[in-house]
Amino acid sequence: MSVIGLIGGSGAGLYPGAADVELLNTGTDWGPPSAALQRWEQHGHEIYFLARHGETGGIPPHKVNYRANVQALADVGAEYVVAMNAVGGIAADAVPGSLVIPEQLIDYTSGRLHTYYDGTGRETEFVEFTEPYDKNLRFLLIKAAGILKLPVIEGGVYGVTQGPRLETVAEIDRLERDGCSIVGMTSMPEAGLARELGLQYVSCCSVVNYAAGRSDAAIHSEIEAFLELGIEQSAKLIDQFLRDI
Ligand code: HPA
Repeated sequence: MSVIGLIGGSGAGLYPGAADVELLNTGTDWGPPSAALQRWEQHGHEIYFLARHGETGGIPPHKVNYRANVQALADVGAEYVVAMNAVGGIAADAVPGSLVIPEQLIDYTSGRLHTYYDGTGRETEFVEFTEPYDKNLRFLLIKAAGILKLPVIEGGVYGVTQGPRLETVAEIDRLERDGCSIVGMTSMPEAGLARELGLQYVSCCSVVNYAAGRSDAAIHSEIEAFLELGIEQSAKLIDQFLRDI
């Protein structure tokens, strides 16, 4: 039995299919997390789900208290964290409706409280972040997607932008030149904070739109059309993943 944290992204205030959910209102040394933790058991594991943007989705990406969220999961004993992220597709194969298990990221965010080492307490440790996402968890998610025949892209680079506005075409062109295959607003500082606390962290991205300039469709109508599917597919994938871990 493992203790597993799930972080829900846009549109995922509640986790689909969870039964006998217990609510846990917790605080942390960094303030309250975005929402109460939702606890249940699934395939013999203890699951703690946290809605990154709050239960009603009111907290924008740059206002999320990432430190409190990751700390809250560490405080309940989570060893593994699976983050769900809605993203825009930059690479040609990152089409809406697909899932991406990224291997790397580039952090373009600014001004977010991004570290537990703020000079007031623990001595600064320069944590290694060469591989931002846990290799073993990535492997298990990819394997689960294969079993379920879900449309998954095994790898890729997540460009993390500040938001909340979406990008210009020139910004997406630049991200592409930098090697980014998907773009979103939430993998950082979350992934870095998880590393600072020694949690094994992986991201399950659902592509909900083509990034700016990559399609003629209106971005918001694409997001509306694909968000629900992304959450459903991610929940299915995670269910299979939980059988294996
Ligand atoms: N850009 C940034 N963040 C996003 C996007 C996007 O196109 N889609 C979903 N999150």
